[in-house]
Amino acid sequence: MSNATSHQPGMNGVGRQRAMLRPRYAQIVGWGTALPERIVTNDDLARLVDTSDDWIRSRTGIQERRMATSPKESTATLAIQAAREALRVADVPASSLDVVICATTSPEYLCPSTACLVQNALGAPRAGAFDLNAACSGFVYGLSVARSLVLSGDADYVLVVGAETLTRFLDWTDRNTCILFGDGAGAVLVAASHEPGGILSCVLGSDGSGSDLLMVPAGGSAHPPTMETVANRMHMLRMDGKAVFRFAVQAMADGTRDAVAKAGLSLAEVDLVIPHQANVRIIQSSVVKQLKIPEQKVFVNLERYGNTSAASIPIALCEAIEAGRVRPGQNLVLAGFGAGLTWAATAIHWCAPVERTPAPWWKDAQREAGYQLASARSTWRRLARRAYADVMGPADAPTVRGRLRTAIDAGRSAWQTHKPSSRR
Ligand code: COA
Repeated sequence: MSNATSHQPGMNGVGRQRAMLRPRYAQIVGWGTALPERIVTNDDLARLVDTSDDWIRSRTGIQERRMATSPKESTATLAIQAAREALRVADVPASSLDVVICATTSPEYLCPSTACLVQNALGAPRAGAFDLNAACSGFVYGLSVARSLVLSGDADYVLVVGAETLTRFLDWTDRNTCILFGDGAGAVLVAASHEPGGILSCVLGSDGSGSDLLMVPAGGSAHPPTMETVANRMHMLRMDGKAVFRFAVQAMADGTRDAVAKAGLSLAEVDLVIPHQANVRIIQSSVVKQLKIPEQKVFVNLERYGNTSAASIPIALCEAIEAGRVRPGQNLVLAGFGAGLTWAATAIHWCAPVERTPAPWWKDAQREAGYQLASARSTWRRLARRAYADVMGPADAPTVRGRLRTAIDAGRSAWQTHKPSSRR
């Protein structure tokens, strides 16, 4: 467990109340990514649509992207992999999680949430879980929610994941969109801490008048799936690139400026900006030209991944840490924009140590065993639920099966009333 965290298992009520009176801060203490294996280059795309490596590089900065081509790779599997890595870096067990937030525009299903699948695969029995759709701004929206949960005392550990497989919603005949996006996931663990710093401020914005500029028209209640919606490619992403570009430049500059001011910092005090990785020209026009933040202070990795939507900022954050660009004591800004239209930015005073000491082998083995156990427990619960539905008769029915069900339901409700609470 991170030594920055206030979470102390076994602390009694008085001790916990005292701890709650001390100021709380929301620190990022773990981070991880997951990327599909398949690399798709600009030349690969030039074989599909009328484009070229030169055009894509010069207009966007993208050289290649990852694509989830294996049936085993999906938004949930990538999210789970990134989440496990974040917990491993933080050295926090999944059982400590209070909330799992998954920011995604390409969820595993319309219902249930991808976050619930992550919660189940991690084996986090105490955690609430929900998806958050703010498109490419979703991860920063998630950080804002996590910070609020932690500062209010409602949660000690919140896992925030940004995960996408947007390539499954692309029109591979539309050169305006199919060249831009890639798949991947990034996750961070936000923990309660008494050490001043962490997520200092968050700015969230939206302008629904631009909802038509970037959208997947069908699949929701406005246009449920029909033969016609499929034939008209209405389940695929559509975009007015020029309008989004103009909005993005302003939104990223304004968001960054506002988050920095709200944190009580000046732009000169910012050590590193990690912008949403959509187009290098957007980053240059907004953060570099408008805000005059030197290029060396801006992290860019979109040449390798393209726009991974809600996953782009956490993936870039992890790579910046790995590259030695993030150090304790630094001020960071994460800034994004996306469909909605939405925008979001956060200023962070980084506190967590970034050097990785390799964990002893038994820790990894223990962690892996925990995940196997979570999987077995999940299967068992599913089977038990099915068996219960198959075997039991209606409650209070004057049959053996009915009486059995009444007795089991009564026992279960008594257990729920008297069991020691697993929550605070
Ligand atoms: N390959 C080759 N030519 C292309 C092309 C491609 N992939 N896509 C468009 N073109 C063509 C256009 O048809 C147009 O041709 P024309 O002048 O004969 O009509 C020309 O290139 C210029 O197109 P334009 O749309 O003006 O290009 P652009 O400089 O605006 O770049 C985007 C297009 C999409 C790269 C750019 O607008 C952009 O990045 N927008 C923001 C998109 C974004 O970030 N979306 C996600 C938000 S989270």
